[in-house]
Amino acid sequence: MLQKQLEYIRNITDFEPDIAVVLGSGLGGFTDGAEIEAAVDFANIPDFPVSTAPTHRGRFVFCKIGGARVAVMQGRVHLYEGYTPQQAVMPIRLLRLMGAKQLILTNAAGGINRDFQIGDLMIIEDHISSLVPSPLRGKNIDSLGVRFPDMSEVYSKRLCKIITECAMKNGIETKKGVYIQLQGPAFETKAEIKMCSILGADAVGMSTAIEAQAAKHCGFEVCGISCITNLACGLLDQPITSEEVSETAAKTAVKFNALLRSTIERIADEY
Ligand code: HPA
Repeated sequence: MLQKQLEYIRNITDFEPDIAVVLGSGLGGFTDGAEIEAAVDFANIPDFPVSTAPTHRGRFVFCKIGGARVAVMQGRVHLYEGYTPQQAVMPIRLLRLMGAKQLILTNAAGGINRDFQIGDLMIIEDHISSLVPSPLRGKNIDSLGVRFPDMSEVYSKRLCKIITECAMKNGIETKKGVYIQLQGPAFETKAEIKMCSILGADAVGMSTAIEAQAAKHCGFEVCGISCITNLACGLLDQPITSEEVSETAAKTAVKFNALLRSTIERIADEY
């Protein structure tokens, strides 16, 4: 299946990305103004999952950013859309087969850590994916990676350091923490957030951990940034809405895009 999808893309473009980026909810504007070489809609790729989330565009954009060749996923697919974990990580695996070596995951997340404020950017240092099914379940694809991959450093220390330094250089404050993935689509209950907090999570979302797991399995050097779009259920005495999530993501877009761009340029500089 992956080979057929790769062939489809290769018939459109021979672009070989160095770096792959997944843009989360409300962060899709990152490629505006970039030097775009080609774009491929998920809907046209054979047997490919299509993003149904309203704020996700669902396409690969191939572009140059600074000196780097970058494949950007504008929109991802989530478990809550009804896709299997294997389908949800298909784009990640395809990006690896296209040639990308580093993967930058981004998302909107609810802040659990009491030191976090709405609009903060959190560098993901680790994740908890135990509450969602693994994308590696079933027959192992040996050509991608091993049956029992090590997960002791999913988020590369080297890349976390680069993001931290790029943030400092651009005067952007960042937090660090553990991301926990739940299935959604309902936002969590207060009891669930209390559970997540006890488990050691700093931010909660509905994507990313399974992508990071599959990315590590297939040999990507991985890093991730969460935009804290809201405080998790129970931290404020008010309901959580997807409008709040999108609005905050849009408000942080300028600093978020600056950090992402600077990180991409720095990764490319170190080749
Ligand atoms: N919970 C789960 N996913 C999210 C949240 C949240 O509070 N905010 C943004 N994505």
